[in-house]
Amino acid sequence: MRIAVIAGDGIGKDVTAEAVKVLRAVSEVSGRSLELEMLPWSADHYLATGVTLPPNGYDMLRDDFDAVLLGALGDPRVADNRHARDILLGTRFELDLYVNYRPVKLLNDALCPLKDRGRKDVNFVVFRENTEGVYVSIGGRFKAGTDDEVAIQEEINTFKGVNRIIRHAFEFAAAQGLTKVCMADKSNAMQQGHALWQRVFKQVASEYPAIKASHMYIDALAMFLVKDPGQFEVVVTNNLFGDIVTDIGGALQGGLGMAASGNIHPGRTSLFEPVHGSAPPLAGKNIANPMGAILSSALMLETLGWSDEARRIEAAVEAAVVAGETTTDIGGSRGTNQVGDWISREVRKL
Ligand code: NAD
Ligand code: IPM
Ligand code: MN
Repeated sequence: MRIAVIAGDGIGKDVTAEAVKVLRAVSEVSGRSLELEMLPWSADHYLATGVTLPPNGYDMLRDDFDAVLLGALGDPRVADNRHARDILLGTRFELDLYVNYRPVKLLNDALCPLKDRGRKDVNFVVFRENTEGVYVSIGGRFKAGTDDEVAIQEEINTFKGVNRIIRHAFEFAAAQGLTKVCMADKSNAMQQGHALWQRVFKQVASEYPAIKASHMYIDALAMFLVKDPGQFEVVVTNNLFGDIVTDIGGALQGGLGMAASGNIHPGRTSLFEPVHGSAPPLAGKNIANPMGAILSSALMLETLGWSDEARRIEAAVEAAVVAGETTTDIGGSRGTNQVGDWISREVRKL
């Protein structure tokens, strides 16, 4: 397997170094070869060269690699976030990675931020539409910078886009033996674009009679994720709402540093990254939690068909949590690289 590794900015670099260690450990014990190629694409690289990614960058990712592992992108020196737009959002669009798969699974009761809740209450997945919505950047500013400014940012919803993510959610539920899919939108206020979500959801749900299909407005979903997350198995929603509710999902797992994700086009080169960002205040201090990045590399291996290796990594992360071999954000006293080292050793032992 050939993996492109884009550590990116801030704590992206810190946590990716640990995910790479763990990947090397698992490849060693399994005897299967993983070729990791480090790509320098980041704010540093952009500021030094003026290049966010090379002209053939997307083709290269698609044609030369089986998957991409990314840390995080975002740097206060790049105020317009241009490099993140090209490297992260650009790859989502150009490789057509329409499924943003974000599992929300609590690894240990002690990490649950909710009173009297635990692992049985926090175990669901979010499918976030990943190629349209407000992220397409269609719009513009008229009389920018004046008191007459008009700013327009359109939300794009297409039948193709809505249909394929909703179908994916139902297919996933059916394949995993799950019985509930909840779609969240804002069709009470966004009566054009989200009427399409309503229509497609009803149509697709009718093809899966064994699955209980439900709907929530996104504001109510945000509330129920905190009040009663145990009711959810599969949640499907649009790009922006999925971004927001998966940070809540991160908190439910003990903190944003625990949350993993895959940006997937089934059967094609896909990109895996922790849900969190570059957290500039934490960068380079050996304090960032690497578990979200490490679990993202497990999701990557799972998607590539290396299920045993993926499970080995997940089991090692879970063991680290149980053993208290964790960073301070989730109650431990270890540094980023101690946690990565511990998990790498555990991967070799298991
Ligand atoms: P952030 O996720 O970087 O951090 C928010 C807070 O969450 C941090 O201050 C910290 O308290 C906590 N946190 C996040 N990850 C952690 C970890 N691994 N260990 C311990 N604590 C952790 O969000 P932000 O501060 O809003 O954004 C910072 C930059 O990251 C921005 O430029 C933003 O655009 C970018 N960003 C990038 C990605 C990505 O590349 N996928 C995702 C989100 C944000
Ligand atoms: C995420 C991030 C990105 C998003 C940012 C960096 C553009 O928050 O992957 O969750 O909004 O998709
Ligand atoms: Mn986000």
